[in-house]
Amino acid sequence: MRTPIIAGNWKLNKTISEGVALTTALKASVADVNDVEIIVAPPFTALAAVNAVIAGSNIRLSAQDVYSEDSGAFTGEVSAPMLKDVGCEYVIIGHSERRQYFGETNDSVNEKVKAALAYELKPIICVGEQLEERETGQTEAIIEDHVTGGIAGLSDAELLSCVIAYEPVWAIGTGKTATPAQAQEVHSFIRGLLTKTYSADVALQLCLQYGGSVKPENASELMAQPDVDGALVGGASLEAESFAKIVASGQ
Ligand code: 13P
Repeated sequence: MRTPIIAGNWKLNKTISEGVALTTALKASVADVNDVEIIVAPPFTALAAVNAVIAGSNIRLSAQDVYSEDSGAFTGEVSAPMLKDVGCEYVIIGHSERRQYFGETNDSVNEKVKAALAYELKPIICVGEQLEERETGQTEAIIEDHVTGGIAGLSDAELLSCVIAYEPVWAIGTGKTATPAQAQEVHSFIRGLLTKTYSADVALQLCLQYGGSVKPENASELMAQPDVDGALVGGASLEAESFAKIVASGQ
């Protein structure tokens, strides 16, 4: 009942021409896929050019961040109406790198989620514990804090426009993937958590992605878990071949 969603987060990678080349190759490789939602999230500078490549295809466009205000004196920021204007359908919010290096908090995540929803952008809200937090038994408390903080005040319909991505910080870019059982355990915890505030039906419909060293070799096993509905892919999304293989494993 949940369509798998596989998203490539390019992070701080790819010039415009590199992004166009990657997307052109990807578009050809995934042309026959119609049962997976495929998303690419280039840096802001490549959004318009990548959008032109994917026009009319089965690939959707995402940004990697958004600011909570629509316009004004906020040097360096990009707003939800601007992302809508450039062709984005999704936006990643609260990635652990933004929490770690750029001072993102649950409150700022929540403001950004609401700003995105106001312009019919679908937020991909990232949550995840650090290694030390896992080792000291705080995983569930951290996940609960990130999830409840990020989605505070959302209606059923608004929540269902969101995706929650579980990305354990210790698995991001380290080659250390969570085991399928570890991913499933946290995903099932998140779904249970949602039923405290939302109906079981809403919790069942929400798509939960896993992210953290997802590769063609481990993607099928992760996505075979009952509560893992897709993947948020960093490094392996930077090459069309490896990302297309991950997309295929979602079929
Ligand atoms: P890697 O796939 O490179 O570990 O990155 C995961 C991630 O942070 C996606 O948002």
